[in-house]
Amino acid sequence: MEKLVINGRTPLKGEVTISGAKNAAVAILPAALLVDGICTIDNLPNISDVKIYLDILTDLGAKVTWNNEHEITLDTRNINSYNSPVEKTSKFRASYYLIGSLLGRFGHAQVGMPGGCKLGARPIDQHIKGFEALGAKVDVSQGKITATAEDLVGTSVYLDVVSVGATINVMLAAVLAEGTTVIDNVAKEPHVVDVANFLNTMGADIRGAGTDVIKVNGVKKLEGNATYSIVPDQIEAGTFMLAAVASRGNILIKNCITKHLEPIMAKVVEMGGEIDEIDGDNVRVWCNKRPKKINIKTLPYPGFPTDLQPQMGVVLSIAEGTSIINESIWESRFQYTEELNKMGAKISAQGKTAVIDGVPDLYGAPVYASDLRAGAALIIAGVCANGVTEVYNLEHIDRGYENIEQKFRNLGANIERVEE
Ligand code: UD1
Repeated sequence: MEKLVINGRTPLKGEVTISGAKNAAVAILPAALLVDGICTIDNLPNISDVKIYLDILTDLGAKVTWNNEHEITLDTRNINSYNSPVEKTSKFRASYYLIGSLLGRFGHAQVGMPGGCKLGARPIDQHIKGFEALGAKVDVSQGKITATAEDLVGTSVYLDVVSVGATINVMLAAVLAEGTTVIDNVAKEPHVVDVANFLNTMGADIRGAGTDVIKVNGVKKLEGNATYSIVPDQIEAGTFMLAAVASRGNILIKNCITKHLEPIMAKVVEMGGEIDEIDGDNVRVWCNKRPKKINIKTLPYPGFPTDLQPQMGVVLSIAEGTSIINESIWESRFQYTEELNKMGAKISAQGKTAVIDGVPDLYGAPVYASDLRAGAALIIAGVCANGVTEVYNLEHIDRGYENIEQKFRNLGANIERVEE
């Protein structure tokens, strides 16, 4: 078993370059199945979710060629299976995108029920509602989802909840449908826009991504023959911003899109951190005093992202005063607070609310990552704490952060991955 051993209390200083967005990559790879041709995808993050996805695409008959560490060329002309392997698809959440793309291209899809981070109930009723509205029959049984359609025909779909996954999945199914699909009450996250931009680059006709309504004019074929570069990861950039504040450091965050970071920057300033937006792609964040208490409510974009809630929880655990976090997206996103309490934090979490009494110092302890972002939060806590912290369950962290310990080490952290 691997663990990260962190010798703490280091102000993080230096530069970090942000990788391509995990949540865009895990949607763009299945989206490429809609292309009946060849496409090149650049700025792919080197993370385990991407590796599993590429394995699945290969199983389905795609040809993957690595051009360099972050760029692949995909040939999806000879896809010869619509059934993605259950043992692989049930390992991670974003495997549900295979339904939209295989259904869209072949009128038939079968995947294992998606797995992923345990953040509470994760229904996919809105995805199914969209597929059915387009004319598909969907069956969920024996741990599998099967969707079939003779013809998919454009229609109006109103999503009852703002869902990133349902927005992207219905968009995927509509790209090659006959006529126009209008999807209302959609998610506006940067990765939703990125998937639409990828598909348009390959030949789709999607309008309105980034607003509340997406309109997809069906096209006959996606020719591909183009290169697309994945957007920088908003959540990774936010993780390092919050690490700068928590550790009272000074970090230049390179290759990010500062517009996507506005909800986070506003909170950093409220806590007493300083920000210098150098240009649209680079931002410096620093903090040389104890952060101040603030309140947070997680919301769909452009609200404060739930995927940065645990990292923010670490900053607030050592802030001056009592802060309140209201988690409005997921039911069980406070598991990390028990681990932080082992390090001396004073957090009481119940239901969707956590009350955090800031303490002056955290102390190193063995802690367990319950999910991906909880893992990132525990690394930040370890860097800020006195003494030695051991972080376990690294498989969660490796799903979504590229070279995380190297990036922290470059900023001065004393962190090693060791085999126990
Ligand atoms: C995506 C992100 C995840 C992030 C989340 C919210 C990926 C791979 N994962 O997850 O990191 O935390 O967005 O920003 O991009 N819901 C329903 N019915 C549905 C679908 C969702 O009720 O059919 C609910 C969920 O229970 C949740 C809310 O809608 O309360 C938002 O979920 P959604 O945006 O779909 O999250 P994911 O796409 O799974």
